[in-house]
Formats: sequence, structure tokens, C-alpha cells
Amino acid sequence: MLKACIQAHKALASLRQATGHLPNPAVLINTIPLLEAQASSEIENIVTTADELFRFADHEAAANPATREALRYRSALQEGYQSLRDRPLSTATAEVVCSRIKNAQMQVRRVPGTALANQQTGQVIYTPPVGEALLREKLTNWERFIHEERDIDPLIRMAVAHYQFEAIHPFTDGNGRTGRVLNLLMLVEQDLLDRPVLYLSRYIIERKAEYYRLLQGVTVDGAWADWIAYMLNAVADTAEWTGAKIDAIRGLHEQACEWIRAQRPKTYSRELVDVLFSQPYSRIQNVVDAGIAKRETAARYLRDLVEIGVLEEQRMGKEKLFLHPAYLKLLSDDSHATQRYVLPPSR
Ligand SMILES: Nc1ncnc2c1ncn2[C@@H]1O[C@H](COP(=O)(O)OP(=O)(O)O)[C@@H](O)[C@H]1O
Ligand SMILES: [Mg+2]
Repeated sequence: MLKACIQAHKALASLRQATGHLPNPAVLINTIPLLEAQASSEIENIVTTADELFRFADHEAAANPATREALRYRSALQEGYQSLRDRPLSTATAEVVCSRIKNAQMQVRRVPGTALANQQTGQVIYTPPVGEALLREKLTNWERFIHEERDIDPLIRMAVAHYQFEAIHPFTDGNGRTGRVLNLLMLVEQDLLDRPVLYLSRYIIERKAEYYRLLQGVTVDGAWADWIAYMLNAVADTAEWTGAKIDAIRGLHEQACEWIRAQRPKTYSRELVDVLFSQPYSRIQNVVDAGIAKRETAARYLRDLVEIGVLEEQRMGKEKLFLHPAYLKLLSDDSHATQRYVLPPSR
């Protein structure tokens, strides 16, 4: 356990370093959290693709319901992260996060009737506690455990607290996703991450049956060690993956700078490249909003980038969207290989 703990801490430290090396860490706000939102939502059978999420990231209203729900998860993560500046992680944080995800005022359950059932057979496998007062009491215990048990390693505390939160199951729905947002917020609060940029649900979605089995194992057999080991491995594995992804993003960012500078020196600016890496789908407005140019010039810049094979123009309704294919591929791929920019075949 100690070994697994050290491994996870090492991986988190190097993830943090990778993030620090990025010329503009803000580029990560719209990327890794969207991957996390996709996987964490899929664990709950809310299925959308990374491509859809990126495409509609700034146009939630136009997206299909599953995509909208996953985009709200991203907002919930962001909102929860910002709330840490004002107050420590608490039941109120969980209510804010869950309400955002569900797009409804979510409060600790007041009515009985919530139970966890096997999705195939419908058989009830776990019935969480009932009654608002009892739930709040247990949540207070959960808050204390997070903040006061300082002689327990923070990663082990996170694993235990995640079980505890899921076992309390304070809401009528949204407990899984809220709990996974809280995991990242805990890492930030414990100063193990600067931002909630960790693709932790990647591990869980790939081992979902085990996730369910191990949570139940704690309840039924008190099998804490297996559960904690799972979560420590999840952190180590995904921190390494996310760190490698961020290094690859940095590499592609450098390549883009070089390529654009060489092909279109007058169009090139660092700020423009940062826009191309803020999200894989850009709009003219993004360039305007970044203060780089007025609309007409911004449109010309993006057309220039289409001509040299960095972007691809697409239509979405009345709007022009500029896809950055090399970046989308890097973000959606499990591997961290990057493509070179090449001139498109002449038309
Ligand atoms: N046996 C169990 N005991 C406690 N929690 C569990 C158990 N099995 C699954 N869970 C948790 O319950 C979550 C599902 O609860 P739910 O309220 O439907 O969340 P969501 O709406 O985000 O789908 C799972 O993602 C998992 O975290
Ligand atoms: Mg659910």
C-alpha cells in the first residue's frame, strides 16, 4: 500500500510539473476536464463523444441531451474548483456540484426510496441510509474525515472518502458523478494538484465492473485494502497518462509555432497559437475575444491556417467552425503520438 501510495504521489508530482511547463496552462481548462466529463458521464451511461463535447463546448444549447449533460459536468468541476477559494470542501460543495450536473436544485435526500440495483437484473444490491438528519450527520463525519485525519495520507483519505460519499449516497441521483468531481477537488484542496486537470475516470471506465464490485466489497466484507489499492492505482495510472498527454500537447504547440512562423510569418503570433490550443474547435470570435484582431482580420488569419493545413473549415448551422485536426486526434487518442503539419493537397 505504501509503495502504491508513493507511486501515485510521484505521478501526481510529475503531472504538476508537466502542467507548469506549458507556456499557457489555461489551454487545459477546456480539454482534459472535457475528457474527464465524457468518461465520468459514460460510467453512468450518459454517452457522448469527446468530439461532440469539444464541438459544442461553447454552444451547449445546440447539443444533444447527453452532450449537454456531460458539458454541465465540466461546468460543475469548474464551479467546484472555484468554490474552494471561498470555503473548504463540504456538503454545500457537493450540493452545488450535483445541482449543476443535474441542472436542478439538488439537496440532501428528504424522501426514502433510493436504492442501488444491479443494472441487468434490477435486484437491489445496496440501500443507503434514509432521513435528512441522518444523512447530514454522516456527511458531517465525511467532512471531518477529509479535513481532520491528517495523519492518514491524503490519497488514502481520498479513496476512503469516495467510498464514504458513495455509501451515504446523499442525492436521489448524480452521486457517482458528484463523488468523482469531489475526488479531484480533494486533490486540489490537499495541494496535490494546482487545477482539477486529471483524467481519473479514464481508469474507472475501463474497469467499471471492478469499481462497483470493490465499493460493494467494502460494505459487505470490509475489504478496504482492495478498494484503496484500486484508487491509488487509478491516481498513479491516470496522472502518468495525463502528464504524458500534456507533454505531447506542449510538443504539438511548439510544432505549430514553428510551422506557422515558417509558412505564414505575418499571421503568426503566440496568442493565436494559444487560441488553437484552447480547444480543438475555434471560431472567429475566439480570435477576436483573445484581443488578437478585429473580426475581418481574425477571419483571414484562420483562413490562412486552413491554407497551410493547420485547420479545417467546417459549417455548423450558420456558423463557421475551424477544426484543429492534429489537436483533436491527440486529445482523443489513447496514445500520445503527434502528427506533423503538412500542406494540404492543392485544390
Ligand atoms: N455497492 C455500492 N455501494 C455504494 N456506492 C456504489 C455502489 N455501487 C455503485 N456505487 C456508486 O454509485 C454511483 C451511481 O449512483 P448515481 O446516483 O446513479 O450516480 P449518477 O447519477 O452520477 O449516475 C456509481 O457511479 C458508484 O460511484
Ligand atoms: Mg444515475
